[in-house]
Parts: sequence; C-alpha cells; structure tokens
Amino acid sequence: MIRMTDPVSKPLLEVRGLTKRFGGIAAVSDLSLTVAQGKILALMGPNGAGKTTTFNLIAGTLTPTSGTIIFDGQDISNFKPDERCKAGMARTFQITQPFDELTVIENVMVANMRFHRSMAEMRRDAMRQVEMVGLADRTNVYAKGLSTGERKRLEMARAMATRPKLLLMDEVTGGVDQKSIPGLLDLVKTLREEGQTLVIIEHNMGVINELSDRAIFMNQGVHMASGTPKEVAAHPQVVELYLGEETVDA
Ligand SMILES: Nc1ncnc2c1ncn2[C@@H]1O[C@H](COP(=O)(O)OP(=O)(O)OP(=O)(O)O)[C@@H](O)[C@H]1O
Ligand SMILES: [Mg+2]
Repeated sequence: MIRMTDPVSKPLLEVRGLTKRFGGIAAVSDLSLTVAQGKILALMGPNGAGKTTTFNLIAGTLTPTSGTIIFDGQDISNFKPDERCKAGMARTFQITQPFDELTVIENVMVANMRFHRSMAEMRRDAMRQVEMVGLADRTNVYAKGLSTGERKRLEMARAMATRPKLLLMDEVTGGVDQKSIPGLLDLVKTLREEGQTLVIIEHNMGVINELSDRAIFMNQGVHMASGTPKEVAAHPQVVELYLGEETVDA
C-alpha cells in the first residue's frame, strides 16, 4: 500500500544508552535500539550476550545502571513492571513461569482480570487466547501437567491477554521438542499478521530470517551488528562468533 503522506512514524519502543552492570560485569553496555509499530525485531547473540538482561531492563524487572526507555511516546524509565504492563508491554520468559497450581484457563484469566468485572467475562475473554494458541483441548488441565511446548503456548496466551502494544518473547523455540516448533512459529506469524509489535530473542537463524524485519546481534553486552536478518548473518564478526560454531538448529 502506498500512502501519499506517510507520517514520520515514531518508534513504539526506543532504548537509548542502556547499561546494566552486575558487579564488575557489564551484562548490557550502552545499547540503543528502536522498534517500529507492527515490526518484529530479533535480538541475537551467544549465551551470556545480555539478551535476557535487555528484556528485564525493558520490562522493568531490573533497574538499569544507566539509560533511557521511551515507550509509546512516554519515558517509562522509572516505571515499575506492573506500570509498564499497564502501559502496554508484555513478555514471555525463557523459562516459563505459569502458575502451576492453576489450570490453563485460570492462568489466562489472572492476566485479563483488570479488564473485566465478572468471572464469566474473564473466562470468555481468556478462552479467545486459549483458542488462539491452540490449547482449547487443554483448558482445564493444570499448568504443571503441560509439556514444554504447551507451556510456551500458555505463556503467549497469558501475555496476549494483557492486550499488549509490545510483546517481548524470550526464546519461543528454546527447549521445545522439534515437533512443537512449527506450531509455535505459526503462532508468531499469526501475531505478526495481526500487526502485533514484537521483540524476539532467538538463536535459530532460520527462524529469525522467517519472522523478523530487523535483527540486532549482541556479544558480551555490546551491540555488534544490526540490519536485516540477512545483513546481520553476513556480518564478519557474527559469522566468526556465532554462525561458525552454533548451527542453524542451535
Ligand atoms: N541477576 C544477575 N546477577 C549477576 N549476573 C547476571 C544476572 N543476570 C545475568 N547476569 C550475567 O549477565 C550476562 C548476560 O546474561 P543474560 O542472561 O542476559 O544472557 P543471554 O544473552 O540471555 O544468554 P542465554 O542465551 O544463555 O539466555 C551473563 O554473564 C550473566 O551471567
Ligand atoms: Mg537468555
């Protein structure tokens, strides 16, 4: 679609000079990035690169040593995690964190509670996300009884239930059995088609190529390369540090 007057679109998320030190280690060092509305940014890098720490800083579960986070036109650097959630940010975790003693539907209802006045409304709304992630036949199963792939789906349903403007997804395919991966990727594609803005942490270069508009490669907390996934994959330092040793299936 060609728009005659495409407005100068402000990024939905803008991170400036983000740094996090743990004692002597700079887990994230002077990182800047932007994510445009409706786009998918992939964060890449070897183990310990600072990817999850970056998510924790954006979502507010860690306080940065320095740096600024602008979200939807607002400086949210001093917002608490729940205030960031209310502002429209949601995340999924590398290690899934549902309430094990609650069922699938109850887990999602907890996430949509603030939008509804009755349990019936909460349940009806939650059912939409449960169906979207393909867990309709597991609605009343306790979260502790789910497979790893199902837990990842539940994480997505819980995150989507908060109606986020931005969704941060930490390793959707990580630790999941091979046969669950295509379904999880289809789910991300569905979100993309619905215009959901996403930042994904992902190791699998094939997945990054397929899903993301742009990628940033980090190493030891430092931004090393960014651009289209193909540009990043071709960057000499990325090849040396990553693609040489980690296979596409890493
Ligand atoms: N709470 C913490 N306290 C101290 N050091 C931490 C803490 N969290 C992370 N680190 C360190 O910060 C660095 C970055 O870790 P992080 O978890 O962000 O990496 P990552 O890129 O997500 O790696 P992976 O691919 O293994 O998930 C590592 O050296 C890690 O040991
Ligand atoms: Mg991580």
